Amino acid sequence: MCDAERRLLSNALLDMSNEWFILLSESCIPVYNFSVVYQYIMKSKYSYMGAFDDPGPFGRGRYNHNMAPEVNISKWRKGSQWFEVNRKLAINIVEDVTFYPKFEQFCRPACYVDEHYFPTMLTIQSPNLLANRSITWVDWSRGGPHPATFGRSDITEEFFKRIHEGHECRYNDQPSSTCFLFTRKFAPSAMEPLLRIAPKVLGF
Ligand SMILES: *[C@@H]1O[C@H](CO)[C@@H](O)[C@H](O)[C@H]1NC(C)=O
Ligand SMILES: *[C@@H]1O[C@H](CO)[C@@H](O)[C@H](O)[C@H]1NC(C)=O
Repeated sequence: MCDAERRLLSNALLDMSNEWFILLSESCIPVYNFSVVYQYIMKSKYSYMGAFDDPGPFGRGRYNHNMAPEVNISKWRKGSQWFEVNRKLAINIVEDVTFYPKFEQFCRPACYVDEHYFPTMLTIQSPNLLANRSITWVDWSRGGPHPATFGRSDITEEFFKRIHEGHECRYNDQPSSTCFLFTRKFAPSAMEPLLRIAPKVLGF
């Protein structure tokens, strides 16, 4: 998975006009129009890579001491793979020959490379450029190992109100309620109602 993501980044870096790189899936949608998304990312001091230190079995519990000294447990991080990085961090990622081999060799199930590699290596290399949070909202409230998938009946104005207003975070070190620019996961059945409601609630 991270291999594929690194290849996507390498390819996108070849275009010198690309300054920011966002990984999304086919089940993600933007929840603001293009100019809002562009301004938010362009004016941000930080890149949106989710990275947190989880002391429990699914966080630090997955660390393998053979990764030292390159990867110290104090820098071990976890986060979702739906990231936004600037050009500098994208180059850090594709250039890396120090950390990747350690993860390939020593992060094996129940350790998952795609949940730890980018947050950890960027926390070691460029901690001051990370917001440590994702800008893609995912709903874990329904429980279970996978986040909620939204279908036809979920697509209402109230649903988007919850995404637009129901959050608190920091943006450029200030409190903000605009925390998420993208949302997942949407089922194909959500497409038609989304197209209908988008001009009113999403502005595009
Ligand atoms: C890991 O970091 C801690 C504190 O930052 C330090 O005391 C320790 O020596 C480091 N361990 C390795 C293996 O580098
Ligand atoms: C993100 O976490 C790193 C340490 O892991 C910290 O140095 C950095 O200041 C944090 N970013 C923000 C915006 O607080």
